Amino acid sequence: MNNKEIVAQAVFEVVKENLSLSEVERLLENPKSVDHGDVAFPAFALAKVFRKAPQQIAAELAEKIDPTAFEKIEVVGPYLNFFMKKEVISSMVLKQIAKEENHFGDSSIGNEGNVTIDMSSPNIAKPISMGHLRSTVIGNSISLILSKIGYQPIKINHLGDWGTQFGKLIVAYKKWGSEEKVKAEPINELLRLYVEFHEKAEEEPELNDEARAWFKRLEENDSEALELWRWFRSESLNEFNKIYGMLEIDFDSYNGEAFYNDKMDEVVTMLEEKHLLQTNEGAEIVDLEKYGLNPALIKKSDGATLYITRDLAAALYRKREYNFVKSLYVVGNEQSGHFKQLKAVLKEMDFDWSDEMIHIPFGLITKDGKKLSTRKGKIVLLEEVLNEAKDSAFAQIQEKNPDLPNKEEVAHQVGVGAVVFHDLKNDRLNNFDFSLEEVVRFEGETGPYVQYTHARAMTILEKSGFSVENETDYALNDADSWEIIKLLQSYPEVVMQAADQYEPSVIAKHSIKLAQAFNKYYAHTKILVDDEQKNARLALVHAVTVILKEDLRLLGVHAPNKM
Ligand code: ARG
Repeated sequence: MNNKEIVAQAVFEVVKENLSLSEVERLLENPKSVDHGDVAFPAFALAKVFRKAPQQIAAELAEKIDPTAFEKIEVVGPYLNFFMKKEVISSMVLKQIAKEENHFGDSSIGNEGNVTIDMSSPNIAKPISMGHLRSTVIGNSISLILSKIGYQPIKINHLGDWGTQFGKLIVAYKKWGSEEKVKAEPINELLRLYVEFHEKAEEEPELNDEARAWFKRLEENDSEALELWRWFRSESLNEFNKIYGMLEIDFDSYNGEAFYNDKMDEVVTMLEEKHLLQTNEGAEIVDLEKYGLNPALIKKSDGATLYITRDLAAALYRKREYNFVKSLYVVGNEQSGHFKQLKAVLKEMDFDWSDEMIHIPFGLITKDGKKLSTRKGKIVLLEEVLNEAKDSAFAQIQEKNPDLPNKEEVAHQVGVGAVVFHDLKNDRLNNFDFSLEEVVRFEGETGPYVQYTHARAMTILEKSGFSVENETDYALNDADSWEIIKLLQSYPEVVMQAADQYEPSVIAKHSIKLAQAFNKYYAHTKILVDDEQKNARLALVHAVTVILKEDLRLLGVHAPNKM
């Protein structure tokens, strides 16, 4: 039980005639400051029934409530402020974590329902951008959080492996490229060719016609075009997999846009049958005026399909293949118009499940205040960022703990963890400016700080020889441990909140608060001193290691035992 539930029960016992248990619970508040206790009950709601001033009601209730679980119940004006009995709560929380370990906060609310998560989804022949990194790590964390509460996540990498850019790439490759160069450095070379195409096309617009012609050949399954496309795709995937490997993130499906090439006719036919298609200057559109949206362009005048046509086919395919209870799209905020249109078209087609399609947008990463653009070659290479972070972690370990046995492995976990944590700790909709220095920083509110706190707590436990005994009482009553107990106790709600809001930052913020509270405790308390509370203090340290590690796990970050 959490404190609110305990207070609700106690209040309910004395107001049974007038309020239900859930009504009482809904009225409870979290006091802004610790001086006002742990939970507050405002008595206003009872003023009408009792025909008395709320102040008086509060005072009378305070007399009647069973005080067992409380240190004191204070009446401040119309409020009842409950101060929980620290010994009782700490023992309850620590026992539960000792027993459930990292399953503390698990739930079965998801009923094993499938949730598809469209995530990462980079474009072939281009480097994975910082935006794709965001989608990858946010999507991965959401999948971990959802599976903790009983859903079955299905991670789908909807690769951008189709579209007119492949016409451009083929032209550029045939004119200015070479096999050896692409083999040597696939993504860099393909990107160079892509950029070169755009530069040259500004002076020679005919190049665009050539590109269109090549893309048409590709759409018509011309063997030369297809072979080049397949080659670019597999070289690109190899490169992407290096990064996914570093992040230790995998996918259940790599069905990208090209996978839907033979599945779009069905969608177009359905749209026709439902009389939703209109012809507009030779193009086929779905009018979405009643949604306040621009029309969705389904087919161009030359018969070419579009990004949204493939997404319509993909949505349908996912419903049939996975029968999802929710279908998530972790894609940058700049595409929110696209996802509104996508949902609206499906709604028009009478697919009620479109209500369960949720776009999970995130903010932009800029560099020196400007948008990054592949077309202009203005990008940050993710692999470089990850390697840099790793090197920097290695240097710090070398300096502080040169005898650590698995230095390479830990440096990887800390470096990559720093990058991932940096991305996840802010509300996902916030924009931020990319700075390598900031990303590989280890002090302050960072991943390495949380990892370091975890390792430090592990060291204490190791020294103490502590082992969990379920029957023991873990009663603590000092103010510093209380702060920790409350953070531990709130964990199940924190997980639920992160899941409800699709917001990994809720978990990241919890981990930072818990690490800070623990470091404060550690600075003020002699944990290993032999007295009657020693075992309870160690149970607290143990619980902190369990929950910090679980927080990090839900973010996709390792918690090494030693650093
Ligand atoms: N490849 C796209 C991009 O990089 C993202 C795809 C997102 N997923 C989707 N189903 N549209 O912008």
